[in-house]
Amino acid sequence: MTDQTPVVEKAASPVTLPDAQTVTSVRHFTDRLFAFRVTRPRSLRFRSGEFVMIGLLGENGKPLLRAYSIASPAWDEELEFYSIKVPNGPLTSRLQHIQPGDEIILRPKPVGTLVHDALLPGKRLWMFATGTGFAPFASLLREPETWEKYDEVIVTHTCREVAELTYGREIVESLKDDELIGEMVGDKLKYYPTTTREESPKMGRITTLIESGEAFRDLGIPPLDPAVDRAMVCGSLAFNLDIKALLEKAGLREGANSDPAEFVVEKAFVGDGV
Ligand code: FAD
Ligand code: A2P
Repeated sequence: MTDQTPVVEKAASPVTLPDAQTVTSVRHFTDRLFAFRVTRPRSLRFRSGEFVMIGLLGENGKPLLRAYSIASPAWDEELEFYSIKVPNGPLTSRLQHIQPGDEIILRPKPVGTLVHDALLPGKRLWMFATGTGFAPFASLLREPETWEKYDEVIVTHTCREVAELTYGREIVESLKDDELIGEMVGDKLKYYPTTTREESPKMGRITTLIESGEAFRDLGIPPLDPAVDRAMVCGSLAFNLDIKALLEKAGLREGANSDPAEFVVEKAFVGDGV
């Protein structure tokens, strides 16, 4: 490689590391969001909702890795990820250029709290997402256990703009026709997308809509009840804290793998200075 080699524009070079996986498809949704699929290591076992470290080989020759929720369900033979494109972000300014055939690095050590095991049995499961926080729910919604365990599943997704809802909306809409879980989903699913900075049928932050009771009226369900409702939360730190406060006010307690309770929370990303 000479000094003139344009390394910055190149998304991924062959890494030939034990943890390399091959990109099989890429889809761009907006100038800030894309999704891609990669081959799955045969040895990788994970629970739907968990995250792994993925990345590219840095220009210094060391892996540049970031946490990513696996957006595909545990039974899928490939792995899917849903990603932000951060302007000048060390990883995503390069990752956004990957193409089928390129390689990424994937550390096969899945972890996370957005798993069924961390919740006590309940009747209604809420999935509260903002932005790329939808990714773990893209996995859990395609997981049969979700539909076996709950009578009702409510998916809320709040984004700034309508186009940012596309990935989630398409997954939600595909569920009823899904060969594996279509029949299990039946009429259990309620989808509640909202936008905050562009006109759409439902405007507003989900926190505001929950606090005012509007979300419950729209969905035709009673307010949160710790005997019935379970929740999984994935968004920015500020969002997670606000939803957590609302859930705790309603009497739900935060759970963990080692101590299951009524709701669980995961950060969709670590913000500036947090
Ligand atoms: P970074 O240096 O990592 O981030 C720069 C800044 O960009 C951050 O300080 C923050 O302000 C902003 N930012 C980073 N990620 C996001 C995001 N997802 N949405 C909005 N703003 C963001 N990212 C995904 O795109 N998809 C995922 O499924 C995903 N899962 C994650 C799971 C966990 C548990 C954690 C902790 C993070 C997750 N992230 C996810 C964030 C991811 O790890 C990286 O931060 C992201 O890929 C950007 O990497 P970067 O090197 O380009 O920029
Ligand atoms: P808003 O436009 O009012 O900030 P971001 O892209 O900043 O991560 O935000 C994604 C979505 O989450 C936006 O619609 C944003 O609304 C919303 N959001 C951000 N912070 C909160 C919060 N603390 N409570 C509820 N919604 C939030």
